Amino acid sequence: MVVTEMVSVEGMVRDNRKTMSMLRFRPEERPVSMQVFGRNPETLSEACRIVADAGADIVDINLGCPAKKIVSKSGGAALLKDVKLTESLFIAAVKAVRIPVSVKYRSGWDSESTNFIEIGKLAEGCGISMLTLHPRTRSSGFKGQADWSHIRTLKEAVSIPVIGNGDITSPQDAVDMIDQTRCDLVMIGRAAMGAPWIFRRVDHVLKGLPDPGEPGLETKISICLRFARLMIEDYGERPACFKMRKQLIWFTRGWKGISKYRPEMFTIESYDDIVGFFDRYMNCQEQMV
Ligand SMILES: Cc1cc2nc3c(=O)[nH]c(=O)nc-3n(C[C@H](O)[C@H](O)[C@H](O)COP(=O)(O)O)c2cc1C
Repeated sequence: MVVTEMVSVEGMVRDNRKTMSMLRFRPEERPVSMQVFGRNPETLSEACRIVADAGADIVDINLGCPAKKIVSKSGGAALLKDVKLTESLFIAAVKAVRIPVSVKYRSGWDSESTNFIEIGKLAEGCGISMLTLHPRTRSSGFKGQADWSHIRTLKEAVSIPVIGNGDITSPQDAVDMIDQTRCDLVMIGRAAMGAPWIFRRVDHVLKGLPDPGEPGLETKISICLRFARLMIEDYGERPACFKMRKQLIWFTRGWKGISKYRPEMFTIESYDDIVGFFDRYMNCQEQMV
């Protein structure tokens, strides 16, 4: 299952063009969950209906975003501090649509106020269908280690499916998280950036098959080029290629001698530039052999 990045409920009800473009998906991406954020129950209801009409299989409510610009408006993880408002958001969303409503959240605002069990039980009582827990607090951001024991405690406290999330970087991590927490599913974030093959690897290992491992350089390049073509379809060549600069940094992480190609990545403006960049890198590798 794939989840969209969080989409503003305010932007959706105002029919903001950029916001609405974030709801696009391809049929082969199903099942698709669309994540929304906001703090007004009425706006959230309307946004959930828009998401359902857009064809989402699941609507997910964000209660985990730590970003200043979101929490300063009491959205994202800030909702963890306002249980009453959170309850009315859950009720409004569940009432608004027939598709399942899920919630993604953090363990609490800070280490003194971890309330993931309270929020999890509240969600279940309001008819939320599934929970994803990233067991860090808002104040810890991405620091330290995700505390997987919270996922286990949550799993024991509720009957709805629980997705475990946080610090999975290999197929073995996924196996370990399931073993240690008994979670129903795992969610992978950062480890997929520049390495989308992680999903295939985890899928194989969870099915008891051998880990296919990291693909070779040529396969990585062809995956990255396919990614660029899909981005171009969605955004147009120039905007997509600007977005690809960041992706190229991630895709080429750890490649031998890549640092001297970094400045070139920041000049990429077209699909041909990307192809040329990889050609130059590969030629140079061949000469070194
Ligand atoms: C660049 C970036 C963007 C993210 N955007 C979202 C988002 O829109 N919604 C969300 O629920 N989590 C978002 N997250 C958090 C991840 O979904 C995930 O909870 C977190 O990265 C921990 O999982 P990981 O260790 O597998 O990365 C984002 C994380 C990163 C690094």
